[in-house]
Parts: sequence; structure tokens; C-alpha cells
Amino acid sequence: MLLLGLMSLSLNCSSKSKKEAKLLAENAKKVSLEQFRPLFHFTPKEKWMNDPNGLVYHNAEYHLFYQYYPDSTVWGPMHWGHAKSKDLLKWKHQDIALYPDSLGYIFSGSAVIDVKNTAGFGENAMVAAFTYHDPIKEKEGQIDFQTQGIAHSNDNGKTWTKYEGNPVIKNPGIRDFRDPKVFWNVEKSNWQMVLVAKDEVQFYESMDLKSWNKISVFRFDDNPPLGVWECPDIFKMKVENTEEEKWVLIVSHGQGAANGGSGTRYFIGDYDGTTFTTQQKSSQWLDYGTDNYAGVTYNNTPDGKRIFIGWMSNWDYATTTPTIRWRSAMTLPRELTLNKTENGYYVKSSLIEQIGTITTDVSSEVSGTPDTQFTYADLQRSLLSYDITDITHPFEISLSNSKEELYTISYDPKSRIFSTDRSKSGNIDFNKKFLKNPKQTMTIGARTQMSLTLVLDASSIEIFVNDGEFVMTNQIFPSEPYTKFHISKGPNTKMENFEIKKIKHVVPQE
Ligand code: FRU
Repeated sequence: MLLLGLMSLSLNCSSKSKKEAKLLAENAKKVSLEQFRPLFHFTPKEKWMNDPNGLVYHNAEYHLFYQYYPDSTVWGPMHWGHAKSKDLLKWKHQDIALYPDSLGYIFSGSAVIDVKNTAGFGENAMVAAFTYHDPIKEKEGQIDFQTQGIAHSNDNGKTWTKYEGNPVIKNPGIRDFRDPKVFWNVEKSNWQMVLVAKDEVQFYESMDLKSWNKISVFRFDDNPPLGVWECPDIFKMKVENTEEEKWVLIVSHGQGAANGGSGTRYFIGDYDGTTFTTQQKSSQWLDYGTDNYAGVTYNNTPDGKRIFIGWMSNWDYATTTPTIRWRSAMTLPRELTLNKTENGYYVKSSLIEQIGTITTDVSSEVSGTPDTQFTYADLQRSLLSYDITDITHPFEISLSNSKEELYTISYDPKSRIFSTDRSKSGNIDFNKKFLKNPKQTMTIGARTQMSLTLVLDASSIEIFVNDGEFVMTNQIFPSEPYTKFHISKGPNTKMENFEIKKIKHVVPQE
């Protein structure tokens, strides 16, 4: 009996291990293929990622820290993951920078370089400011579970020491109290911080990064109110081609964005070093797509450029997107500039100029009937740009594959509505909310022509209208790459300067 029992056990084991081996092999194949893994957008090597954190340039490297959960592909106890790049496009993964501790998980925040050693951590120490989120207090039903902490690194962000006096800002009795963005205020010669407290932005100042005083709050009458405010950022910008200076305040909202779910908006106004004010009656969205959230900008850039990175997802469906080994990517870094037209100020998000170093010009490989359809081996990792020289006629453009999956872009000159539609773009079934608003729309100002740049990378499309005057970022999951570019409506559409550029191989991000 015992022998028989053992035999059947060993038989079971070997058939089980064969099965397991087969499954593992299949999985490995899937993982290595990972059709949705971007080539030139940042993704974690594996597991879950959300917001970009601690964006800071130091010693000729751009640092990208990010909300990271190393044990699963869905959100969990937050760490700060870390990567570095010399050009914002080719990233090198680093070890995890910050781990949860007895004060809580490490939520979003920022990093600065303490050039003058104001904190006493050493000259040029990298200092991170982040939110501690205490899950035990939260579970116990207390409301003061979010506080602000700091940590420093003297070796370019490799190893970190948390400050023994943490938290540096205690919770004032508000559930949502987080996401500190610290910057050096040149005019006041002190450190300043913006953070969000429920539905307002609070301003703080400090001489040493350790002791902080609250100096003001900024509120805005939203009707209807938008969800909780998150991930603020503030910076001064010169209006392009003028000497005028204005301040831009960025805030993200988990719900209520232009085209459903999460999105990021901005206010343009004045800041006297204490209080931010705006004359605007309404705020503007930085991106009209569904997948650009919690974005913030770099501190300390060498050329003073304002470089922005967002998390390319949406809390509506972020935890269910159909990737296997990793989840979520960042948007391409974008250069923000402030512009003014007859309709007022707006922030333009343009492709960073470094993009030219990873593209190859292959327009000549394009075949098909000019002006109506181009067929190309793989549009899924490419940059398409063209000008439409007469936008008095409606047009519709589609990108599609042999499975008839298609992503459409259209424009109606009467309403001046530019829209995109991903309802047939590929895998759309993983979450009902993915198609909450199948069409993303934005109203384009009165223009006679339009330039369009589409950047595709496996599972995303970023659309820059007029070099970033209007932007849409969308995730898409086609089952095979799009190969056709088709002008399906608008015979009178005049297209010029059509270019398709292939992206040079950029991953793996070792
Ligand atoms: C935004 C956010 C932040 C928070 C972090 C937690 O996506 O909710 O407000 O700090 O994510 O991961």
C-alpha cells in the first residue's frame, strides 16, 4: 500500500513537474515576447509602477524615481524604484532607492540637490521629500496617516539615509495630505514646497529642508468639484518670444479629467514667493488623452529646460492592462514652454529634441497609394509626422493591421473638434472602463493648417498637434502591429511633408 502510494505520488509529481515546466516555458516565451513592452518609453524591469518621483538632474544624469511595488504587478506597499539616463531616452535600471519603514509606505514626492549644504547632509547631497503613508493607522480608521518625510543620498541616489527626525511635516488632520514637490526659490533664497491637502494646494518654506512653515494655500472653485487633488508642481516660465514671466501650477486628479478618469491640469498665474493667484476662470488640461497622469517636472536641469514626465496610465483601469511581467510605462519626456495667443496663455508640451538621436529616416520604405494609404512593415514603433495644409475640410485618418483593428483620428472643421477613437484598436476587453469614453476629444483653436506628430511604441500612441499645442496620450493594445496608415475621409485633405521614422533599438534598459 505504502509502496503503491509512493509510486502514485512520484508519478503525480513527475507529471505535475512536466506540466509546470511546460507552463513555465510557455510563460517565459510570452514574457520574452511581451508584445506590449515599449522600446523607448521607460518601463520597470518587472512588476508594478505608477507615478514618476524625484525627477532631478545631477552630475550629468537624469534621475527617474518612481512609485514601485516589487512583489506584484498590481499596486501594493510603495517603494521608490530608480533609473538613470544621460539623454532621457536610454535608461539604466538601478536598485530600489527607498523602502517602506515603520512610518509607512513611501508615496510620491520630489528630489533636490542641496548645493549649499543647508540641511547638513553634505555639499551637493541629493535630498528626497516624500509622503509617508501609514497603512496601520489607515486600517485603524485614523485620518492622520499621511505625513511628509525626507531622506538623503551622497552617492548619486544609490544609497539613501532616512532623516531620524521624520516626519518633517506632521498630518494636520486631513486624510489626503501628500506628494511634496520641493524647489529652490531663487528670489527668496529658500526652499519651498507645494503639496496637496484634499482639494487644495498648500505652500511651505524652509531654510534647511528639515523644518517647514506653512505660508499659504491655493483653492479653485470647480463646478462640479474634481476628485482629490494629487501630485502638484509649480514653476516659473518665460512666455515664449517675450520678456513676460508667469508661474504655472500643475495638479493631477484621479477622477474627472477631460476624457474620463485620471488627468493633469494646470493654472497660469503669479506667485510672489508666498501666494499663488490666477485670473483664470477655468483651468486647462495638459493632455487630452486618457493616459498621462501624475506628471511632474525635473529640478535642476542643466539648460533650464522644463522637462515633464507623466505616468502613462489611468487609475480607471491601470491594474488590469494586459501585460504579463510588468505593468505601466512613463510618457515620453516632454519639454514644456509657455505661450500666448489671442485666447490667452497655454502650456505647450513638445517632444524633447533628443528624440532625433533615436530615429532613423525611412520614409522611402513607405509604399501604397500616396495621399490615401501607406503600408509599412511595422508602424508600432515609429514616429509619423505630417502637415495638413488646409483644415477647412473634415478628415479621418486611421492606423490599422490585417486583423482590421484600427485607431482613428478625425477632425471636424465646423466644430473644430479633433477626436481619436480606440474602440476597435485591439484588446479592449480587459476592463470596461478602458472604453468609458471611446472617443477622446479636444477643441482646436481657429487655425488654417495643422501639423501632426504621432509617436507609437508597442502599446501607446502620443499625438502632438502643432508641435504640442494640443496633446493626446492613449494606451492601445493591438494584437499585431499596425501596418497601414490610411486617410479614410477627406479627399480634399492636403498633406505635406509626410515622414515615417523608425525608432532605433533602445531597450533593454539594463
Ligand atoms: C497618484 C498617487 C499619489 C500617491 C501615489 C501612491 O497616482 O495616488 O497621490 O502619492 O499615487 O502610489
